[in-house]
Amino acid sequence: MHFALGTTSILIFVLHKTAARDDTCRSPSSDDAGNDRFSCASTDIKWKWDPTSKSHPCNIHRISHSDLLRLYGPLGLPNLYPYPLVIYPDDVDSNNNNQGDGSKYRTRRNEFFANLTSIDNLPKQFSADFNVTLTGSDSLSSHRRIVPLTQYLEEVIIGNQHIGFPGETLPYQLGNETWYLFGETFTSEWANFLQNYQLPSCHSCTELHYQQHLVALSFGIGNIGSGVQWHLHGPGFSETIHGRKHWVLYPPQLRPEYDLNYASRHWMENVYPVLDDWNSLDVEKERHGHVEYLQKWKSTKQEGAAQKSVKDPDDAKDEDNGPSNKKPWECTIHEGEMIYFPDGWHHATINLESYTVFVSSFTSEHVSTLEETSK
Ligand SMILES: *[C@@H]1O[C@H](CO)[C@@H](O)[C@H](O)[C@H]1NC(C)=O
Ligand SMILES: *[C@@H]1O[C@H](CO)[C@@H](O)[C@H](O)[C@H]1NC(C)=O
Ligand SMILES: *[C@@H]1O[C@H](CO)[C@@H](O)[C@H](O)[C@H]1NC(C)=O
Repeated sequence: MHFALGTTSILIFVLHKTAARDDTCRSPSSDDAGNDRFSCASTDIKWKWDPTSKSHPCNIHRISHSDLLRLYGPLGLPNLYPYPLVIYPDDVDSNNNNQGDGSKYRTRRNEFFANLTSIDNLPKQFSADFNVTLTGSDSLSSHRRIVPLTQYLEEVIIGNQHIGFPGETLPYQLGNETWYLFGETFTSEWANFLQNYQLPSCHSCTELHYQQHLVALSFGIGNIGSGVQWHLHGPGFSETIHGRKHWVLYPPQLRPEYDLNYASRHWMENVYPVLDDWNSLDVEKERHGHVEYLQKWKSTKQEGAAQKSVKDPDDAKDEDNGPSNKKPWECTIHEGEMIYFPDGWHHATINLESYTVFVSSFTSEHVSTLEETSK
C-alpha cells in the first residue's frame, strides 16, 4: 500500500511486530504506566470472539436493493420499519462466493464515494492541515480529541502505539481512551464532502429531505475491533464503504447489560460468547415479521399504520424486559451493503478490517410519517 504518511510509520509497525513476537504472551494487566500492557501480538492471543473471522453469523433478513424497490416502490423502505434489515447491491457476480467482500458486486452504489475515501485519496479531499474531531468509544461518546486527519489515519493503521497493536483495538482498552472518528462530521467541510454520498432508498431519504436537513449524515473510520459500545437513538441506515462492520442489535424492550467503561469489543469478548444461540422458532419469528409487515403495508399503504399493527402485542408496551439470555440480532455489513437500524433499538458495532469506512444516515421518520398520514 503506498500510503502518504511516509515510511516511518511502516517501520515502527515492522519493528513492533518483531519485538512483540519475542515476548511471552501475557494477559492484559492494568499497568498504570500505560506501557507494554500487552506484550504479544494480538493474533497470538486466543480471543473468544475473533473480529478477523470471515464467518460471523447473520440472522437479519437480507434483501437486494432492486427487490426492496419492487416490494415497496421507488421511494424504497417505508418510514419506521419495525425490524433491522440488510440491503445489498444488485448484480452479484456469480463467479464470486456469496459471502465474501464487496468485490462480488460488479456494480455498486457509491462506487465514486468509495474511490474518494480510499486511504490514499481521502486526505486529498481536504486541506493539508484539516483536523478531525474524535470521540471516545464508550456509550456516552462524551470525550473529544482534535487531531489532523493524516495523524488519525496513521493511528488507525498502525494502532495505538503505546499499547502496540497495528490496526487493532483490543477488548480491554478503556472506551474513553479509545479514539474513534465517528459522528462528529457536521462541519461545512464535511457537509461539502458528504454531498458525494448517494443516500439510501427510503421514504425519508429524498433529496428534499436532505435539503431540509431532515437527514443527517455522519462519516466514520475505524480499525479492527473498534466500535461504539451499546447505545440507542432514532432510526437510520449505515452503509459500509470500505472493510467490514459487524452489527449487533436488541429491540427496545431488551436492554442489554454492558460495562460503560469499555467499547463494544469488550461485550463481544465477555458477554456474547455465553449467550444462547437463536433456535428455529426465533429464526422463524424474525422471518415472519418481515412477511407480516409487507402484507399490512400493502393493505394500508400507510407506514405508521402498518408499523403499529405488526407490533407484537408482548413487545408493544414500552416495558423494560431487561437483558436477553439470547444472542442479539446480528450481521456483518460488507462493502456496498447497508443496514437499517429501527427506531429505539439498542445497538453496538464492531469494525472488522484495519481500514473500515462507513456513512450513517440519520432520518426524521417520525416527522415524515406525520406528514404522510395527515395527507
Ligand atoms: C478513482 O478515481 C480516479 C480519478 O477520478 C481514477 O483515475 C481512478 O481510476 C479511480 N479508481 C478506481 C479504483 O475506481
Ligand atoms: C488544526 O489544529 C492545529 C492545532 O492542533 C492548528 O494549528 C491548525 O491551524 C488546525 N487546522 C485548521 C485547518 O484549523
Ligand atoms: C477513563 O476512565 C477511567 C475510569 O474508567 C479513568 O480512570 C480514566 O482516567 C479515564 N480516562 C480519561 C482520558 O478520561
